[in-house]
Amino acid sequence: MTVTCKGLVLRELGLPAPYADSRPLKLETVTLASPKPTDLVVKVRGGGLCHSDLSVINGSRGRMVPMLLGHEGAGEVVEIGAGIDDVKVGDKVVFQFAPSCGRCEMCQSGRPQICSAAAKARAEGGLLSGGTRITDEDGAPMYHHTGISCFAEYAVVNRGSVVVVDDPISMVDAAVFGCAVMTGTGAVMNTAKIQPGETVAIFGLGGVGLCGIMGAKASGAEVVIGVDLEETKRTKALELGATHVFDARDPELATKVADLTRGGVDCAVELAGAVAAMNGAYAVLRRGGRLVTAGLSPAGAQFGFEHADLVSNEKAVIGSYMGSSVPVRDIPRFLRMFHAGQLPVDSLIDGYLGFDEVNAGFDKLNEGKALRQILAPHGT
Ligand SMILES: NC(=O)c1ccc[n+]([C@@H]2O[C@H](COP(=O)([O-])OP(=O)(O)OC[C@H]3O[C@@H](n4cnc5c(N)ncnc54)[C@H](O)[C@@H]3O)[C@@H](O)[C@H]2O)c1
Ligand SMILES: [Zn+2]
Ligand SMILES: [Zn+2]
Repeated sequence: MTVTCKGLVLRELGLPAPYADSRPLKLETVTLASPKPTDLVVKVRGGGLCHSDLSVINGSRGRMVPMLLGHEGAGEVVEIGAGIDDVKVGDKVVFQFAPSCGRCEMCQSGRPQICSAAAKARAEGGLLSGGTRITDEDGAPMYHHTGISCFAEYAVVNRGSVVVVDDPISMVDAAVFGCAVMTGTGAVMNTAKIQPGETVAIFGLGGVGLCGIMGAKASGAEVVIGVDLEETKRTKALELGATHVFDARDPELATKVADLTRGGVDCAVELAGAVAAMNGAYAVLRRGGRLVTAGLSPAGAQFGFEHADLVSNEKAVIGSYMGSSVPVRDIPRFLRMFHAGQLPVDSLIDGYLGFDEVNAGFDKLNEGKALRQILAPHGT
């Protein structure tokens, strides 16, 4: 069945802040096509506001428009395509923005999070199964955001874009598992593979970075250093497991970290999305240290380091997409850690929004005054 519902559509990139005035996200009536055999339709309960959405809105990492935005979310299945036999109507699902085809070289080498077919579909603004399924009131097509587009009452997605969860958590709050948790905790546990006793510094303490702090603590890191420009973020990091925090502008930062850690950290994790944070993170590494980065700087931004230093001190710089997560394994695992008290990610949620409040919500994120606000299209 086609579904006609409300959704937040971005038609123009780079409108100026404050977004409460320029209103880049317009509430429109959209129609979702009947699901193809590999699609399903989800009633969206929660849609998290992430910096990656902001980077599309402000044009620093632009995408094709018009686009129905939103890539972090959760809800319940209301309809399944004819070819799906492992999901049923009523199942609770968390969206994940890196579905996998199972056939490309990346999938075959055990790295489904960087599936080449999914990367192509994301770049084209379509679904993994090909094409778009959303039209506006005039019947004109619009693009999907990472194959999810969950800033809407309903979403039509590929089967691979959801993970079924059998869990008592509210599907409003479960949204954060789809991006912040998989990216931040995954970067620390899957990409960096932090070992008990290691020393870790996390640069950028927003929703993603604080999930990294929790993951580092849960991994048994002995020293967990949080670095951010904002004092409120640093205070939150201390509450969630950081052993030390520093202002990113501190000119003595590298020396202070070296003093705390016998010469530098085993692992620095950049979760800010800023070249300055990359520079700071590289500067606090010990000999043999590794730098993992999941932040997404503006398109075209370059990061540099001294070549000989990398070589003679055997340092490593490693990218992390969606926390190198395997979503069917990691979303249930991170949910279990949440229930065990190891990942108190509910404490990141600092607002539930209606559609009309989302533009102002992005002002708060832009000004560094929010961690994870969640659009609740059907209420909390
Ligand atoms: N790789 C992925 O799969 C993936 C997924 C989701 C988000 N991201 C990216 O992760 C980053 C963080 O997302 P978020 O939603 O937590 O954003 P956010 O805006 O909530 O947090 C970013 C934090 O970085 C801090 N910061 C900025 N410059 C800094 C610097 N030089 N040093 C230290 N801290 C600095 C800010 O004060 C802020 O607290 C963004 O770049 C986002 O696009 C990547
Ligand atoms: Zn995100
Ligand atoms: Zn693939």
